[in-house]
Amino acid sequence: MSTLVAGIGLLVAADGERRNAALVVDGGNIAWIGDDSDAPAADDRIDANGGCVIPGFVDAHSHLIFEGDRVAEFEARMAGQRYTAGGIRSTVAATRAATDEELLRNARRLVAQMRAQGTTTVEIKSGYGLTVFDESRSLRLARQLTPETTYLGAHVVPPEYSDDVAGYVNLVTGPMLDACAPYARWIDVFCEDGAFDADQARTILEAGIARGLGARMHAGQLGESAGVRLAVELGASSVDHCTFLAEADVDALAAGNTVATLLPGVEFSTRQPYPDARRLLDAGVTVALATDCNPGSSFTSSMPFCIALAVRDMGMTPGEALRAATKGGAAALGRDDIGELDVGKRGDLVVLDAPSYSHLAYRPGVPLVSRVVAAG
Ligand code: NIG
Ligand code: FE
Repeated sequence: MSTLVAGIGLLVAADGERRNAALVVDGGNIAWIGDDSDAPAADDRIDANGGCVIPGFVDAHSHLIFEGDRVAEFEARMAGQRYTAGGIRSTVAATRAATDEELLRNARRLVAQMRAQGTTTVEIKSGYGLTVFDESRSLRLARQLTPETTYLGAHVVPPEYSDDVAGYVNLVTGPMLDACAPYARWIDVFCEDGAFDADQARTILEAGIARGLGARMHAGQLGESAGVRLAVELGASSVDHCTFLAEADVDALAAGNTVATLLPGVEFSTRQPYPDARRLLDAGVTVALATDCNPGSSFTSSMPFCIALAVRDMGMTPGEALRAATKGGAAALGRDDIGELDVGKRGDLVVLDAPSYSHLAYRPGVPLVSRVVAAG
């Protein structure tokens, strides 16, 4: 089955931007890119109507397996209260009480929202179960929606272990890891005040790496954290948030291979300062943008919204923000088959009802995604 996408006013291709272009997707992969006037025949045809075509967004950080919302916390924050990691525990209680069907229905709804806004690959973390049973079922359900699943048993210490943090770390690195590893590609730790310290994070990530999982890390969300340099040292694919960074963190990221994944929906919804993407890009760090979709710190499923924030408040050009939301996300997931449009890559793409991708930031909140083509 082949599909011709014709009438592309502006195509964001891997080797640069092309005007008046067309492309063919065949069997899920891009088979041809060229001038609209040279477009070959195909089984099916999509007319871009002169709009801009971009790679599908790669949202490399989300927490979609949960029940309930925390809108009251959001309202309190908008009235001046600070965000703390502690709110996670209320979602844990609701998630444990939910059925598989409820959890899956909620997650599917969020994935559908993401897709409608141009996301063609999503990573999903566990982390609202925090028992052997609830973490492994969270990952089993997430696996039905994406191959990019992340074991986050180390999200916070659950209430029943509040007097025995070492015992919880043993659970996370022992029986819980055994039950979760079959459903996970990645392991993650929330390294922050109120969650896990750098020594505990090292123990947990090293256990996951020894089991063949790739490492990721939440660090620098609420303050500077040793977690950033630890992530680089352990060869993590990504360290996420990076809102607060010491100079030595930026140097380590620039010298290492770890992507800095920035999550501006969190700063929007917690009224924190935005991360300084310009500082990271100027230092040569690979930057990704992701939604962090979760009921506590960032309940948005919209990559276009994150792009708009990144351009408006984080010092990124529209082109840099688009790249971070596509190729950057792919790098954060260690993927080179997605995130850019080139012959041989996956035919995951978005047709915009706009002449350029800059409109994603120029026209915030406007539904500009007119068509999504996803191979998977
Ligand atoms: O990435 N920071 C840790 N985890 C989530 C927040 C989860 C929550 O508040 O429920 C995050 O922001
Ligand atoms: Fe997160």
